[in-house]
Amino acid sequence: MTATAKPDPSHISGDLLEWYDSHARDLPWRALPGQPAPDPYRVWLSEVMLQQTTVAAVKPYFAKFTGTWPTVTDLAAAPEEDVMAAWAGLGYYSRARNLVKAAKAVAGLGGFPDTEEGLRALPGVGDYTAAAIAAIAFGRRAVVVDANVERVVARLFAIEEPLPGARKAIRTGMDAVTPENRAGDFAQAMMDLGSSLCTAKAPKCLLCPLAEHCAGRTADPERLPVKPPKKVKPQRKGRAFWIEREGSVWLVARPGSGMLAGMRSLPDDGWSAQSDGSGEAPLEGEWETLGLVRHTFTHATLELDVAAQRTRVQPDGEGQWWPINQLDEAGLPTLFAKAARLARAR
Ligand code: ADE
Repeated sequence: MTATAKPDPSHISGDLLEWYDSHARDLPWRALPGQPAPDPYRVWLSEVMLQQTTVAAVKPYFAKFTGTWPTVTDLAAAPEEDVMAAWAGLGYYSRARNLVKAAKAVAGLGGFPDTEEGLRALPGVGDYTAAAIAAIAFGRRAVVVDANVERVVARLFAIEEPLPGARKAIRTGMDAVTPENRAGDFAQAMMDLGSSLCTAKAPKCLLCPLAEHCAGRTADPERLPVKPPKKVKPQRKGRAFWIEREGSVWLVARPGSGMLAGMRSLPDDGWSAQSDGSGEAPLEGEWETLGLVRHTFTHATLELDVAAQRTRVQPDGEGQWWPINQLDEAGLPTLFAKAARLARAR
């Protein structure tokens, strides 16, 4: 077959699975080819963690969670604050809140649903995650499309339409090549191919087990999938307050809705500070300016001015004094952990 031949679905899965049998990444939530299917709890937990997060970032969190809560029943019984604190640093905190809700639902059902439809009914489980769990943990034939798969399929079928419009054709392509058997291995093989060879930049087509089937290979595969024009993120500014008393720092719980909802944090001005620093402070008195921290969220970038004060009085409103030498256990989201590092380094 020549490099520009149209993809032949019947050979693609066989060639890719053969490659996977000797190249599968050994990941803590996986069963390697030929081994029994992995525990659905571990598959679900890893797939939720891997939404918008890299494998490297997820590994230590996966180890911490499965060490602390080895089964879904253990997780269902955990206080939500503990789970939120253990999640700190992974971002997208609604995932952690949904995790606890879903664990309770699964414990109530007596086990994980084993169909895509049943799985999709769990909080935080969308089309992708339901398909991934159904295929990987239950051996169902499901069409699993994540960002790596999207790239591989867009190249394999030389899909020229830009994202997000291309998603329909990509799904149809993945459906056409997904086998009846070993759909879970096949999905993970596509993911591994996307992360190791069919990379966004400089794909290694010479090593690719699907090169001979790939319609996108000859015409600059790096272009595919075609991206939509980049949107400029709005910039928000705010102030965070480091209030220190006798070796402790004042922490508050964020409101139950909005950004970082329910997380423990330093007090702030609601990210409404003006550039002249006139945002509202939780205490009277002189503030020492410590510097700026920047953080990028999905929909905005945020620049926080960190201000500090030593005090003897209790700030207004709810909060708690937290020992500074135990701050790592507070579960501050990354933005506030950065601000705390700045304060502690001074
Ligand atoms: N990304 C999301 N799910 C994954 C999996 N099961 N293996 C590797 N990367 C992934």
